[in-house]
Amino acid sequence: MNVFITGANRGIGLGFVNHYLNQGCNVWATYRSDIGGLAQIDDERLRMLQWDVTDDQTVSFLESLALPDRIDLLINNAGIYGPKNGSGQAFDTVTAATMNEVFDVDCVGALRVSQLLADRLKAAKGVIANMSSKMGSSADNTSGGCYAYRAAKAALVIVSRSMAIDLAPNGVRVITLHPGWVSTDMTNNAGLIDVATSVAGLTKVIANIDHYEPGAFVAFDGKMVPF
Ligand SMILES: NC(=O)c1ccc[n+]([C@@H]2O[C@H](COP(=O)([O-])OP(=O)(O)OC[C@H]3O[C@@H](n4cnc5c(N)ncnc54)[C@H](OP(=O)(O)O)[C@@H]3O)[C@@H](O)[C@H]2O)c1
Repeated sequence: MNVFITGANRGIGLGFVNHYLNQGCNVWATYRSDIGGLAQIDDERLRMLQWDVTDDQTVSFLESLALPDRIDLLINNAGIYGPKNGSGQAFDTVTAATMNEVFDVDCVGALRVSQLLADRLKAAKGVIANMSSKMGSSADNTSGGCYAYRAAKAALVIVSRSMAIDLAPNGVRVITLHPGWVSTDMTNNAGLIDVATSVAGLTKVIANIDHYEPGAFVAFDGKMVPF
């Protein structure tokens, strides 16, 4: 199985890399600038690619990567939270620049990568897993704030649903994921679960994708996320 993972040099993305290598898969792992934890992995089935999901890559860029003709699983994992201090994403102070920056990575980034890899996913009748967050659920938003991150992750839920509908005739299945509150750099390691627990759950959800409706929003524990 050929697996392509964005934002794979640390955190949950790196956890996915280790999981799928352990399963015997070929893994294409992307990093933005620093290979980070990928440097510790000695496995010929791992290919590392420098890819910033905010770049509008070209077909010639794709050709230069010598990717396989078929990709069975694309995990759009790369994401940023945006300003973490209380006022950085508050109603009075959040800026257009912050809104646009987080949206470009967390929502448009997944769409860009999916568009570029679509032919390969269609060839494999593969799966696209988009990493959103419960923070992007309107139903779950009882505390307000976090304008940029909430909006970007909510937009990704909708984009993911449209992709599920539009790519279904080609046999490509799409799911939206919530990984839980996970101890990574993003949460300053203050999560409720570790990366291994999150990845174990998420990969089970991905493996069981046919149990869910197209574009479903599902948490690491297999439960639907209301949105
Ligand atoms: N941790 C949680 O509790 C939690 C909860 C809900 C959803 N999520 C989502 O899960 C995903 C992974 O989160 P995490 O906790 O593992 O976060 P993390 O440790 O901060 O890792 C984020 C990853 O995304 C990459 N990235 C950021 N901007 C990028 C860009 N422009 N192009 C390519 N890669 C980029 C980072 O690369 P660099 O090293 O180059 O920055 C890093 O590899 C994110 O989408 C996040 O929003 C996490």
